[in-house]
Amino acid sequence: MGTATLYEELKRKLADVVPDFELRLKAELAEEILRLKEERNAVILGHNYMEPALFHSVPDFTGDSLGLCRRAAETDKERIVFCGVRFMAETAKIINPHKTVLLPAAEAGCSLAASITAEDVRALKARHPGVPVVTYINTYADVKAESDYCCTSGNAAKVVEATGSDVVIFLPDEYLARNVARETGRRIVVPGPSGEDELVIDGSTKGMIGWPGRCEVHEKFTVEDVDNARKQFPDVLILAHPECSPEVVEAADFSGSTTAMIAEVHSSSASRYLLLTECSMGDNIVAENPDKEMLRMCSVRCPHMNNITLEDTLAALKYDRYEIEVPEPLRTQAARSIDRMLSIG
Ligand code: 13P
Ligand code: SF4
Repeated sequence: MGTATLYEELKRKLADVVPDFELRLKAELAEEILRLKEERNAVILGHNYMEPALFHSVPDFTGDSLGLCRRAAETDKERIVFCGVRFMAETAKIINPHKTVLLPAAEAGCSLAASITAEDVRALKARHPGVPVVTYINTYADVKAESDYCCTSGNAAKVVEATGSDVVIFLPDEYLARNVARETGRRIVVPGPSGEDELVIDGSTKGMIGWPGRCEVHEKFTVEDVDNARKQFPDVLILAHPECSPEVVEAADFSGSTTAMIAEVHSSSASRYLLLTECSMGDNIVAENPDKEMLRMCSVRCPHMNNITLEDTLAALKYDRYEIEVPEPLRTQAARSIDRMLSIG
């Protein structure tokens, strides 16, 4: 696709959210990226939170963590450029040890991944011997290496049930854990200042042991926000990511992974929508569905996802940066939990 066609395509989708001079610049950058992508035999994976011009131009595949993990597992390209955050690119490297995996911005982290260490997991396992550990994909390789199963927001409840165990350690997102506990009818304890300490299972109940990690974006939404939005817009359909608190999820109309939220908006005929998640996703949906009325809460942004730009993506392809490395045998140990998740389906 030439620059003129790319520009027209971006204009068709984004004229309402991106000024024209910016669209021209982005189309030029995108064209150069697409040219280099072919030359370097690369695949570009783009998370649903990428900014609209990037999301709608260069990725071969867009999606949530689970969808992109599957795409990474399937690719036959030499290079994977991951337009997302570090734990996502690292996961792609763990399952593709012989490919070059690039993260366009070295500093794109995640508050959940930063909330727990491998030592924390070892201490929990020592305290609860034999209890399977289910770990959210939003973690680094050393934590995955200590875990039995990996999971994402798209399959967390299914993975917990697939362990076949009455008690499961679920790390590190406290809110996701509490939402999964409710969905699977389990009692939950979360160690730490705000949580109870011991899980008492009486034989008729199943349980989960959590960890006090939080997403710095989703923890900001409150039930008051939901109530206020409903007062102001009684016809609004509210969708919450499961990293929001259980109270917010309960007050919303729908909860699911970013891809599940997008699918719900596509299939619903509500007159307007409020997404309790990173704000770029609303722009990305509206670009493809101009008839959908989306309420914006753009003060709530993920500073990590926002690090990834078209300029950085171009530099990643040009200079092979920033290359993700996961040393052996850590990689092999971490891969077990991801392979188990992928085989659960
Ligand atoms: P999804 O897997 O639902 O896309 O979530 C990833 C994430 O980091 C949400 O904050
Ligand atoms: Fe991590 Fe939250 Fe950003 Fe997702 S939105 S990458 S969970 S900090």
